[in-house]
Amino acid sequence: MKSKVVIYKPVPLEIRKKMEKTCDIVYFEQLNDTNHSQFINELADTQGLMGSGLPINEELLNHAPNLKVVSNISVGYNNMDLAAIKKRNIIATNTPDVLTETTADTIFGLILTTARRMTELDQLVKSGQWNELIGEELFGLDVHHKKLGIIGMGRIGSAIAKRAHLGFGMDILYNNRSRNEEAEQAYEATYCSLEDLLQQSDFVCLMTPLSAETEHLIGEKELRLMKKTAIFINGSRGKTVDEEALIRALEKKTIWGAGLDVYQKEPVDKENPLLKMPHVVTFPHIGSATYETRFAMAELAAENMVKGLTGEKPPSLIKY
Ligand code: DGY
Repeated sequence: MKSKVVIYKPVPLEIRKKMEKTCDIVYFEQLNDTNHSQFINELADTQGLMGSGLPINEELLNHAPNLKVVSNISVGYNNMDLAAIKKRNIIATNTPDVLTETTADTIFGLILTTARRMTELDQLVKSGQWNELIGEELFGLDVHHKKLGIIGMGRIGSAIAKRAHLGFGMDILYNNRSRNEEAEQAYEATYCSLEDLLQQSDFVCLMTPLSAETEHLIGEKELRLMKKTAIFINGSRGKTVDEEALIRALEKKTIWGAGLDVYQKEPVDKENPLLKMPHVVTFPHIGSATYETRFAMAELAAENMVKGLTGEKPPSLIKY
């Protein structure tokens, strides 16, 4: 008998068809108020659950007593309560590696876009406000040969360091739970304390996963250590930053600007002051969102799911 898998995020038809050779799929392209109770009912007899972002906690797991595999279509798995998952002997998987280069492209793009005020300039041209003279009020800051501080030197952090150092001649400082000797050798990255990194960097790029230790890692005190000309970039999760403190720092101009792909609450509220600030660039959590990479992520998540359900070792098992 085939195992049942509930999918709650977009997955290309081609991949779902392949999965259907071994699984019966119940597909929700996205969850909303209208289909939520149907989704919960489908959990009762499902063996697999695949998607991203949904809190996989005690409450949800209590609705899914037959669950064997939770397959995240994302590298981050802060949505998973690993203790609750482990208690039930459920296999948990994610999608590392396939999104590393694409996400690094996005985050490096955020650095350039913020420093050079590209979204503001684009709007200015499109709205017919291109005066002959572009004055100082529209100037940005250099990126090349500046100092980039990366907090969280994992796969994506290293790929950002590669772009910054080899392509833009930037000096790299980093802070991480452990030393990354590869990045030290390949990109001359210098390991330092968080405090030193914040004080010395022109760009502070936060890439650490969200955990109990990293929640609000950047708050008022940390923002105060940053240079007045510094740009803060967040490519991790919104909750790694005290967003109120970030707003205050930007309002008081104790830092120059911010490039954000993630927020305390997503989608971000229309009234959030960050959306009205000229030196702030806001992306809608799209680090990995290219056709090729999202396909590769869904493909890997599907392989994780099928292997987990058929007794083989999934390629990207989350260790707990
Ligand atoms: C990831 O893969 O973790 C991205 O941030 C999308 O959630």
